[in-house]
Amino acid sequence: MSMIVRRLSRAATAGLVAAAALTAAAHSAEAADTLGSAAAGQGRYFGTAVAASHLGESDYAATLDREFSSVTPENEMKWDATEPSRGSFTFTSADRIVDHAQSQGMDVRGHTLVWHSQLPSWVSPLGAQDLRTAMNAHINGLMGHYKGEIHSWDVVNEAFQDGGSGARRSSPFQDKLGDGFIEEAFRTARAADPAAKLCYNDYNTDGVNAKSNAVYDMVKDFKSRGVPIDCVGFQSHFNSNSPVPSDYRHNLQRFADLGVDVQITELDIEGSGSAQAADYTKVVEACLAVSRCTGMTVWGVTDKYSWRSGGTPLLFDGDYNEKPAYGAVLSALGGSGGPGDPGDPGDPGDGASCTAMYTRTADWSSGYNGQVTITAGAEPISSWTATVTLPAQQSVSSLWNGTPTWSGNVMTVRPSWNGTLAAGASTSFGFTAAKNGSDAAPTVGTCTAS
Ligand code: G3I
Repeated sequence: MSMIVRRLSRAATAGLVAAAALTAAAHSAEAADTLGSAAAGQGRYFGTAVAASHLGESDYAATLDREFSSVTPENEMKWDATEPSRGSFTFTSADRIVDHAQSQGMDVRGHTLVWHSQLPSWVSPLGAQDLRTAMNAHINGLMGHYKGEIHSWDVVNEAFQDGGSGARRSSPFQDKLGDGFIEEAFRTARAADPAAKLCYNDYNTDGVNAKSNAVYDMVKDFKSRGVPIDCVGFQSHFNSNSPVPSDYRHNLQRFADLGVDVQITELDIEGSGSAQAADYTKVVEACLAVSRCTGMTVWGVTDKYSWRSGGTPLLFDGDYNEKPAYGAVLSALGGSGGPGDPGDPGDPGDGASCTAMYTRTADWSSGYNGQVTITAGAEPISSWTATVTLPAQQSVSSLWNGTPTWSGNVMTVRPSWNGTLAAGASTSFGFTAAKNGSDAAPTVGTCTAS
């Protein structure tokens, strides 16, 4: 009953939502100094994955609201979150994200309806016929609740195996229902919300390879038989083992040529500095070169909450400072106001910025060596300042490649010889600390540059 009330009230607000989105777009066209507004100038959306649990953090919400024009719930619309027991839907966390997005005039991507992972335990034991009924009921329940409010749905996620075979991945759906489950899910989804774009979404399909060829063949077959598919999502999780492929644009284009939109759905690129920025530029330029690439979504707002936080793969660091990659994306989108541009809302000061990242480089029972890497933003810098707060018991016995001053347990470090850095370049200072009974890590504060 409560679900039906919610559905009616969501549908009633849909007109207001559309009006809010138009207002945001009109505002964007004037400013073009944020990711969302710059992308809007290119006829694209620029989105991010969002976790409901972080919306109460003011810096998180401020960065989200300022920069992005689309959100994807990172986990809150998955099957285990929305239908934890059969027929009993819970939308509290997902509604929180959708309501927040709508209040800011942002669009919402739906992720995801049918996936082998994050399935509640009641699904896998079902027999074939029952599983088919449950799959369709899940699609109807979720899409019905958000009818008219989601611009694109990942209807089926990650149904193909990695590796060279191009085969389907084993899952309850594949194993019990066979290849036809994907087609059935798309047909059910079209009837549930005819206005939503219906997407197939996967990873390691970003370049031409056996897996993307298999998805390509499926989409081609669907289009030839009238199976309702509107878009293909390319997750685009990149790192040194899986770099941005050189044929990325070509791969996006060949799918678009089948008559579907393409979207970059979960973009993140491990790394830092100018190399990471250059990779982000490649991705944005590839999307802009393909007219049916309708938008890009990065898989999180800040490095500190990334599923790959150790790889610092996103556009904002853990203190919500814009990274060089942010400036590169903004610039590739044709925007202005990135790090160093006068009036940029995310800069601590105009013209110069830096980030500081801590790692423990050696460890023994009574002490450790710490290293802080300083990376210049999109402009060259001539000096930097980083603060490191030590746990109260710890003491620093030596420090190299930097000049410290102390206030209680807060160490402020400035360059010794290494203040001048080219845009995106890095230096580091190191120190030896005595644990004195505390093995906790120090905290590195905001880096400032001039
Ligand atoms: O919320 C619980 C918390 O209560 C519990 O204490 C904690 C203990 O482990 O787990 C928390 O849940 C975690 C959840 O993220 C929320 O943080 C899960 O363990 C963890 O498995 C889950 O990871 C998510 C992952 O999908 C699951 O497969 C990541 O956040 C999410 O970024 C990731 O997203 C996927 C896309 O959906 C599909 N493509 C790949 C992408 C990256 O793996």
